[in-house]
Amino acid sequence: MSAVLKHAPADAMLSVDRISTFYGETQALFNVSLEVGPGEVVALLGPNGAGKTTTLRSILGLTPARSGTVRFDGRDVTRVATHEIARSGVGWVPDDRRIFPTLTVARNLAIARKKTRFRAWSEKECFEIFSAMEYLMHRECENLSGGEMQMVAISRALLGSPGLVLFDEPSQGLAPKVVQDVMKTIARLRREGISVLVVEQNVQSALEVADRCYVMNLGTIVHEGPAAQLREDATLRRQLLGV
Ligand SMILES: Nc1ncnc2c1ncn2[C@@H]1O[C@H](COP(=O)(O)OP(=O)(O)O)[C@@H](O)[C@H]1O
Ligand SMILES: [Mg+2]
Repeated sequence: MSAVLKHAPADAMLSVDRISTFYGETQALFNVSLEVGPGEVVALLGPNGAGKTTTLRSILGLTPARSGTVRFDGRDVTRVATHEIARSGVGWVPDDRRIFPTLTVARNLAIARKKTRFRAWSEKECFEIFSAMEYLMHRECENLSGGEMQMVAISRALLGSPGLVLFDEPSQGLAPKVVQDVMKTIARLRREGISVLVVEQNVQSALEVADRCYVMNLGTIVHEGPAAQLREDATLRRQLLGV
């Protein structure tokens, strides 16, 4: 079977091969293939409803693919339970920043800590990235601003010692300064050799930080290539993304 994998070299950190995913009888993904190499930042772009979140959910086993395969770190995880996928080193920063609202920041961070075969991050390192967070440790999360919640959500992913982090629209609704911090964090992950798959509506920021990108539409991949190509080719960018 592996002889026909077009997108999956043996050393890919994440390799998604022709997955199809359904919500009930409604098919949301049609033979989606993509890969993320070690330490590579890959952007997944496309209009609302294209299937970007569903692709992340399929990778995480939240909405498992009905056909096709998902491999992470050399292992077939297509039918593996979500908590086990997380424990093997897949971090997730969901679009709703799903942190526990009635717990303090400190408690949210403490319960996110996991050991994997990848590097462990400390709270101190998270404070170095998000300097404001140290002073929020005893606040309950329901009282945080959107930007503060995003800092906690990203820190939670890092404390889980990820080899790959999936970001779902991390800049959505955030002030420009916080968007910058988020993009700086993604660039830092790359320097540390951690792989990133980032879904973004903010095409410009995503293309600045990414090495490669995929564009989805109607549940399929309609373009793949170096991020620099879409950054520089305004005609192609408009044609694919309308911006
Ligand atoms: N929980 C769900 N139940 C049924 N259909 C869904 C559900 N979530 C998403 N969809 C449908 O799947 C398609 C892809 O959605 P989604 O992956 O959320 O797109 P994107 O993240 O690119 O905006 C859309 O047609 C959407 O309506
Ligand atoms: Mg989405």
